[in-house]
Amino acid sequence: MKLVHREVGVKRAETATVIRRDRQILQGKPPAAAQEIAPSASETLGTRLEKSTRMTGLEPATSGVTGRCSNQLSYIPSSQGRHIFLAPRFAIVKRCGSRVGPDNGNGGAGGAARTGGSGCGIAFYILLGIAHTMSARELILVTGGAGFIGSHLVEALVARGDRVRVVDSLATGRRENLAGVEGRFEWLEGDLADFDVCTRAAAGVSAVLHQAAIPSVPRSVEDPLLSHASGPTATLHMLEAARRAGARRFVYAASSSAYGDAVELPKREAMLPRPLSPYAAGKLAGEHYVHVYAKTMGLDGVSLRYFNVFGPRQDPSSPYSGVISRFLRVMSAGERPVIFGDGGQTRDFTYVANVVAANLAALDATAALAGAVYNVGVGTRVGLIDLVDALNRALGTRLDPQFQPARAGDVRDSLADLTAIKAALGYTPLVDFEQGLRATVAAAQASSA
Ligand SMILES: NC(=O)c1ccc[n+]([C@@H]2O[C@H](COP(=O)([O-])OP(=O)(O)OC[C@H]3O[C@@H](n4cnc5c(N)ncnc54)[C@H](O)[C@@H]3O)[C@@H](O)[C@H]2O)c1
Repeated sequence: MKLVHREVGVKRAETATVIRRDRQILQGKPPAAAQEIAPSASETLGTRLEKSTRMTGLEPATSGVTGRCSNQLSYIPSSQGRHIFLAPRFAIVKRCGSRVGPDNGNGGAGGAARTGGSGCGIAFYILLGIAHTMSARELILVTGGAGFIGSHLVEALVARGDRVRVVDSLATGRRENLAGVEGRFEWLEGDLADFDVCTRAAAGVSAVLHQAAIPSVPRSVEDPLLSHASGPTATLHMLEAARRAGARRFVYAASSSAYGDAVELPKREAMLPRPLSPYAAGKLAGEHYVHVYAKTMGLDGVSLRYFNVFGPRQDPSSPYSGVISRFLRVMSAGERPVIFGDGGQTRDFTYVANVVAANLAALDATAALAGAVYNVGVGTRVGLIDLVDALNRALGTRLDPQFQPARAGDVRDSLADLTAIKAALGYTPLVDFEQGLRATVAAAQASSA
């Protein structure tokens, strides 16, 4: 059986064949997801529009909405802490000065995207339906899709009509993270350290958003072999499997930890990396593999260096989790957060919607990305003591931090220079730190209510 396949430009009949074949390859795992997403040959425009509505989760248009061509990615915080992104060509704008931007005045995650009613609704749905029909041809693989960032990516892709496959070992991710899109993606459970899993995951895909890793500095210091297996080994396996499958693009979740103890701020991609931990060294090795595959092996790709990502669904339960999710959890319980070091260290805390936007921009870029490395952050930095203050304000608490000795491998300061990614991908942060923190607190409070 021929596994090499490019989704772009295939006819519907071919798409149906591919779906059947992928299903066989995946040994019968959730076939309904593929059927749900792909248009059938007999489908009418009306049926497709109905399907679009179901897939986006947007309610039927009534008034005040129109479709327009735009180069700007639109972001709509939805209810249940989910986010809806629309492809640049088909952004929605609300009339009468209403905002559909990062903050709907409802704390980000709290407000449902609503449209209100005049005659523009039909035109909008036709545009939306066509957009989804076009993008439904692509099968996108999200590795680590049951994790924090991966699950937000899956939601965004499903919402805009892409066919999505997720591969995850559930080492740190949870299937429940995908509850909001259950039945709308293909699922494959497996460890990417096993090349056979990568081969099955890559079959028929157009592009890979590679998020899988054990994302922890202290855990990598304790268990560098595990960190390497889920980091550079899995990345090389996934690159090779994607190349053999004929994928057109590989988008890699790199890390600002690669900058290590370089003192210069802000961090620019041209700076010499100085990783301080096995995790950071592994992330940097992955960037080099992405570059090699783009330059030498025929698989275009890009590395996105995320800066301290936070948002709903970030796991707070492990000591290895991101600092905001841990602080939010302990402070919500009325306990004092622990700061390792003097608290003067700073981070460019980046709300997850910004990371999703950067991934979609990289996925959709028409020009070759040639293995480039780009920072993904907000471009502002917040000290850990200031973070505790901000959480106290958001939670209505007055808790002082406790201090413990600094941990090995942690970096002192972090701040992204965004010049390169703005120029190459048109990325600008959609949600700032304060907005993101409010959205995160609101989502955490809603889920514990
Ligand atoms: N969260 C951040 O602040 C941050 C910052 C920089 C880079 N990153 C990178 O972003 C990516 C996603 O991070 P996250 O915060 O969502 O973490 P996460 O732990 O929530 O998600 C990682 C996912 O990868 C899966 N996984 C791990 N090893 C695997 C393997 N060998 N095979 C298959 N699946 C595997 C996990 O089960 C999990 O679902 C990671 O690559 C991480 O290194 C994250």
